[in-house]
Amino acid sequence: MERLQKVIASKGYTSRRKAEELILAGKVMVNGEVVRELGTKVSGTDQITVEGNLLEVNDKKVYFLLNKPRGVISSVTDDKGRTTVVSLIDTDVRIYPIGRLDYDTTGLLLLTNDGELANKLMHPKNEVEKLYVAKIEGVLSPSEFYGLKKGIVLEDRKVIPTHLKVRKTNEDSQIIEIGLIEGRNHIVKKLFLSLHHPVSKLKREGYAFLSLGNLKSGDYRELSLKEVKKLYSLK
Ligand code: URA
Repeated sequence: MERLQKVIASKGYTSRRKAEELILAGKVMVNGEVVRELGTKVSGTDQITVEGNLLEVNDKKVYFLLNKPRGVISSVTDDKGRTTVVSLIDTDVRIYPIGRLDYDTTGLLLLTNDGELANKLMHPKNEVEKLYVAKIEGVLSPSEFYGLKKGIVLEDRKVIPTHLKVRKTNEDSQIIEIGLIEGRNHIVKKLFLSLHHPVSKLKREGYAFLSLGNLKSGDYRELSLKEVKKLYSLK
């Protein structure tokens, strides 16, 4: 038996806090009856509806690490008919990506049906370190490099990279490794654009302790139990 709000969150419907609000608002039913008690315990055989939506009973949790190719959208469906990250994975389970990578960004993306882990990893309080490799137009001057290392204010919030290194300098472009905790949309592109060095290629090579290893573009693997436990225990 588990607490109702935990079960709702673990199905990926919403966060645990939002689930509590929905319960208090009388929007959750267990076996056809409205339940407003936050402490209510439910089992796998109970039928739970939230705002009229029946929660899936499937309890099997799956976790995939995908090397996302370019030209694939980080969502479950796309109304423009573009290939989605979910369609690249051969599973009957309804999975979704944990966060997103831009359409033209490649690299490490996690997908799961474990809403509790997804909520945890995406919560601003628990954001994990992500390692990106960006190809930028032009070459950073020393003052741009050290300014970025110290942190840049973007839309009123300071972004301080956890890692910054020049991997390669060409005549009119540079390959930069940058580690970031924060998960604002298009954050890497915005950072370099603010320095007038647009990003022409972007790849995510690391997510917390996970890396792409030798996964080819479009390939994926399941996470091990040990890796899943480690993600759960991240602070
Ligand atoms: N930052 C970006 O600009 N794009 C991504 O896809 C991820 C991080």
